[in-house]
Amino acid sequence: MKTRAIRVHEAGGPEVLKIDEVDLKEPGEGEALVRHTAVGVNLIDVYHRTATSGQYALPRPTTLGVEAAGVVEAVGAGADNVKVGDRVAYWMLPGAYANRRVAPAWRLVRIPEGVTDQAAAAVMLKGSTVFYLLHDIWKVKKGDNMLVHTAAGGVGRLLSQWGRHLGATVIGTVGSADKAMVAKDAGCAHVIVMKDQDFEAEARKITGGRGVDVVYDSIGADTFDKSLSSIRPLGMLVSVGQASGPVPPLDISKLAQKGSIFLSKPTLATFVANREAIVRLAEGVFAGLKRGAITAEVGLTAPLDKAADVHRALEGRKTIGSIVLIP
Ligand SMILES: NC(=O)c1ccc[n+]([C@@H]2O[C@H](COP(=O)([O-])OP(=O)(O)OC[C@H]3O[C@@H](n4cnc5c(N)ncnc54)[C@H](OP(=O)(O)O)[C@@H]3O)[C@@H](O)[C@H]2O)c1
Repeated sequence: MKTRAIRVHEAGGPEVLKIDEVDLKEPGEGEALVRHTAVGVNLIDVYHRTATSGQYALPRPTTLGVEAAGVVEAVGAGADNVKVGDRVAYWMLPGAYANRRVAPAWRLVRIPEGVTDQAAAAVMLKGSTVFYLLHDIWKVKKGDNMLVHTAAGGVGRLLSQWGRHLGATVIGTVGSADKAMVAKDAGCAHVIVMKDQDFEAEARKITGGRGVDVVYDSIGADTFDKSLSSIRPLGMLVSVGQASGPVPPLDISKLAQKGSIFLSKPTLATFVANREAIVRLAEGVFAGLKRGAITAEVGLTAPLDKAADVHRALEGRKTIGSIVLIP
């Protein structure tokens, strides 16, 4: 069998995304064949497209994308947790920008009634991230002041929603004024427009000079130092991502100088290491959706073949919320 796949043969800009016809093998032991109905787009796809070395460099050629929802069409021996016809989703598994793929069955979770395939593709990776950030890295509680960068983005919007649901005061930053209302709607009590305002000064002002309890920094190189300076003594800086580039090496004595700050550089990969961990995250996200802690809105849908245009928009900071490609 063959499938259409969006692949990269060499690192580069969005133009390196090629539409290829590739062979698909039958599902083997513990595997399942999934026909994709919705493919989630994440900034990590851009890191995978552009990386020439380091943690984001994948072997080439590679099918881009790490998140999708779809229907199980065949199962191999021993793939007991799914059956033909199940609606399933997966995330943090390379090979998603395709009409079909063969996946290890243990990575698949059934999508419950009431959650559409597009919603699942919009929320599983980003919602899982938010779930572990809020429950495992810094246990956000009522009254905490959280500073969330890129609050109108995919992860940022869900983080703002869930933070407010837990009773925190969420201070969101956005790149441009047109995103401010989205961040407000997502639960930010205060929105800082980076182009016009100094976020460190604003965060200090909002917290009466004290500093915030926790910062979620998804921008990286451009914001790390000021993020660190926005935190109260014994607060935490969570370095979530690197939209503007990796954070340069750090002199750890800075953490002492700023008031015994905790620093975390977590990755979702740690939280999907086995079946039990995946089920825990999935249950957390589905429960979060059910009780309204988060909503699974899709900010942008586009045909799978338009993946390059979508990458241009994502890197150009033109997108809002989650993006889903339709095969
Ligand atoms: N550690 C983990 O486990 C984990 C898991 C998932 C995602 N992440 C991270 O979470 C972040 C958000 O991911 P996402 O997929 O939801 O993407 P996203 O937030 O929807 O899109 C990226 C956003 O980053 C902002 N940005 C700031 N500087 C930028 C720059 N120089 N170039 C491009 N964008 C810039 C833009 O928002 P503004 O215009 O508002 O600034 C842009 O819309 C990423 O950093 C990603 O790596 C981490």
